[in-house]
Amino acid sequence: MTNPTESNAWNDLLHLCADFKHEDFRLAQLFEHNDRFSEFSISHENLLLDYSKNFVTTETIDTLIGLAQEMELTDAINAMFAGEKINTTENRAALHSTCRIPEAENSNAEIVSCLQQMDSFVTAIHSGERNGYSGSKITDIVNIGIGGSDLGPAFVCEALSSFSTNDTKPHFVSNVDPADLGQVVAGLDPTTTIFIIASKSFNTLETIQNAHAAKNWLISQSGSPDCIGDHFVAITTNSAAASEFGIQEQNLFPMWEWLGGRYSLWSAIGLPIALSIGMNNFRQLLAGAHSMDKHFHSTELRKNIPVIMGLLTVWYTGFFNAHSHAVVPYSQKLQQFPAYLQQLYMESLGKSVNKNDQPVTSNTGDVLWGAAGTNAQHSFFQLLHQGTAFIPVDFVGVIKPTSDGNDAMRRQQYLLANCLSQSLALMQGNNDSSDQHKKFQGNKPSNTLLIDKLNPYNLGSLIALYEHKTYVQSVIWSINAFDQWGVQLGKVLSDDIFKALTESSSDNEFDSSTASLIKQIGEFLNY
Ligand code: F6P
Repeated sequence: MTNPTESNAWNDLLHLCADFKHEDFRLAQLFEHNDRFSEFSISHENLLLDYSKNFVTTETIDTLIGLAQEMELTDAINAMFAGEKINTTENRAALHSTCRIPEAENSNAEIVSCLQQMDSFVTAIHSGERNGYSGSKITDIVNIGIGGSDLGPAFVCEALSSFSTNDTKPHFVSNVDPADLGQVVAGLDPTTTIFIIASKSFNTLETIQNAHAAKNWLISQSGSPDCIGDHFVAITTNSAAASEFGIQEQNLFPMWEWLGGRYSLWSAIGLPIALSIGMNNFRQLLAGAHSMDKHFHSTELRKNIPVIMGLLTVWYTGFFNAHSHAVVPYSQKLQQFPAYLQQLYMESLGKSVNKNDQPVTSNTGDVLWGAAGTNAQHSFFQLLHQGTAFIPVDFVGVIKPTSDGNDAMRRQQYLLANCLSQSLALMQGNNDSSDQHKKFQGNKPSNTLLIDKLNPYNLGSLIALYEHKTYVQSVIWSINAFDQWGVQLGKVLSDDIFKALTESSSDNEFDSSTASLIKQIGEFLNY
């Protein structure tokens, strides 16, 4: 089936959603009749999903599973793991999960060899066998990349900073704004810094401009271009462009067409992670993701965490017109998780034509947003509790603190108490006050995900969970989760506008708004 709206289950769900929209419906009342938690929660190893605080009954879940069956979700999951070319507009497979198969069992020789190359590089840097141009040990790594070549490694390096081997400190430069590279290199010693140019295409404007600026900085600091070979490595599918830039062959790491940028932290794109936490921990990250892959591949739909989470979002976007959902990690080290997920989720699901190149017939990707709790409680939670928008929330809690001591444990307990109290308040509300402005409507759905501690294995599992949830939604909506044609137009127009800004005469005719803005910028920059 192509359009989910033509399924029998969609029709049934249209009827079922009316119960939850009725003015007398109270989410809290659903908890009075049965042990909702045991029915609506799933564990996988150290990860627990409680989805009982959602607009669901047994019948709702049965019908959502029915929708998944009509949309042939199991076949689609099998197709992904079998390496079929599920990225149909680019005629490519999506093999991110293959990157996570343990080397001893992995029949993909390119992946195994890449991991070995990463291992040798990390060992050589950490041991001091490979040093900077003056012979000093490398202490800092600057990753220059954007989108999938930045967000995943940056997020994971921060999340796992307590696992750092303290050999090399990772830094990330993504924005073409000169302030980004400028403020990173300002604190660095060129003799002990290596630049990683991470770009699948090696022609992304921001990355290439920053790479050249970094090269110029190094040459100006060292006084000679001879140091480039020792201080630049690249991860790319475009080895010709990387060589032309000056990257030596032994400093070139592979990327593959079958690996989407936003799914690539498991490959050499994860080199900053491996340099930061060591290869053993990097392999643990892969192992955790692999374990979630096995859960997703082999668990029945009803007990399958990514499937249930994906179906819940389909339910809210399709039948309650939810335009966004928030992800709130109660963990400071996971503060970059929402930013990382935004690319994964919205570049994958922001589509309006289906796999037959026809307009979709249902809502597709909603906006994913969020920030770390408890801070978020003091910024946007007012709107979640008393605003008019309908915004389901994923709470992500980490049980054990990342630091030792009684005081840390006590603050961790405050953190977790806040995490649970927010989902309770959203669900239950409070009608006690006679003042309308003090009332909490409640009836706001949420998931709670708990992991026992933040370590590489659990983090790998958590990230893979969201990758697979994203895939589930794409299958139900019949869209391609692995292309991103929507980013092209802005890139082309920015070339035209750059020309208009930098050349005194331009052939392009712009609308009056764009033309006037170009003129205004030109006048300020004194052209
Ligand atoms: O923004 C579009 C995009 O192509 C992303 O999908 C990708 O992660 C990013 O740009 C960077 O691309 P590259 O790794 O080729 O520089």
